[in-house]
Formats: sequence, structure tokens, C-alpha cells
Amino acid sequence: MKRKNNPLMALLRERQSIRSYTDKPVDPGTIDLLKEALLLSPSSRGIRPWRFVFVDDRDLLGELSRVKPHGGAFLAKAPLGVVVCGSSDESDVWIEDCSIASTILHLTAHSLGLGSCWIQIRQRKHESGVSAESVVRDLLDLPESLHVLAIIAVGYPAGPLERAKPPEMEFGKIVHTR
Ligand SMILES: Cc1cc2nc3c(=O)[nH]c(=O)nc-3n(C[C@H](O)[C@H](O)[C@H](O)COP(=O)(O)O)c2cc1C
Repeated sequence: MKRKNNPLMALLRERQSIRSYTDKPVDPGTIDLLKEALLLSPSSRGIRPWRFVFVDDRDLLGELSRVKPHGGAFLAKAPLGVVVCGSSDESDVWIEDCSIASTILHLTAHSLGLGSCWIQIRQRKHESGVSAESVVRDLLDLPESLHVLAIIAVGYPAGPLERAKPPEMEFGKIVHTR
């Protein structure tokens, strides 16, 4: 594979968080690919301590978009939200495992012409002061043993994909010992 034409590098260069979507639903075949991508993710000791809840119900997406005051409102207009949960009973590194799976979901979505954006839930609060996680847990009837890391909003991008400007490459943050 020529380095310049490497498809994964091209994907990584193009990828960006997408927060506005067309009304087009994500078709079942594409949703199946997203599910497969999640389940192919690596996890520590192969434990796979995750659960993924796919939500395409408009009312429920609206409620999930309000579980924290900032940074999640756009979920109300997304055709799909994937709630990423992990069990601390099953693995002490569920956060790492679930974060990797979420990243793989982002990249797979982008490779399929979809856009996506991470909505942080863990460590965030609902406007009432209770944890955003507890509100998501109530809405989805999740057991106490499951933690909620994030919701990944997914949909077809409404606007042009070009970035206003390319991200700054902070090579100074990489040390290469020789
Ligand atoms: C751990 C994590 C949490 C994030 N939480 C949110 C969020 O709650 N709401 C949001 O709109 N974007 C969120 N983002 C997206 C970032 O804002 C975005 O990745 C960053 O600004 C860089 O932009 P890019 O993804 O387009 O390269 C999150 C990203 C990560 C990795």
C-alpha cells in the first residue's frame, strides 16, 4: 500500500465531528455494519465489558439530548444515537475499552459516508445537579451495574465536510528518541 494513498490515513485526515444531519434515516444494513464494527473492537483481556444501546426513536433521542445542559442538543435532530455503556464489575479498564469502541464507531461511520459526534456523559451533570449518567440510566432502564460513557450521535452530514481550516499538527507533543 502506497503511503500517500493509504485509505485509513485519508479517513483520519478527513474525519471531523459532525453535529448537524439530514433527515435521512440510517438504513438497517448500515446499522448492522456499525454494530459489527463495535463488536470487532479490541478490549483488555478480551473481556468486552460493554453494552451498546442503539436509539432511533425521535422522542427518546430528544430526551437524551437534554441529559446535560451543554454539548448534546444536536442529538435531538440526529437519526441515530448509540449509548456506550460499560460494566466496572466486568473490567477495571471499561473506560478504555469503551472509548476505543467509540472511536472505531466514529471511523466506521465516517467511512460509510455518515457523520458522528461524541457526547460526553461520564462525569457530566444534568441541569438538576444529578449525574447525567443517572438520567440516561433511568431513561433506558439500565441496571446500576452499568456506567454510561458517552452517546455517539450518528447521521448523514447536513453541510459540507470541508473543515474551515485543517487542524494544527502539534508534532511538538511527540518525542521520537533516536
Ligand atoms: C472524550 C470526548 C468527549 C467529547 N464530548 C463532546 C460533547 O459532549 N459534545 C460535543 O459536541 N463534542 C464532544 N466531543 C467532540 C470534540 O469536541 C471534538 O472531537 C474536538 O473539538 C475536535 O474536533 P474534531 O473531532 O472535528 O477533530 C468530545 C470528544 C471527545 C474525544
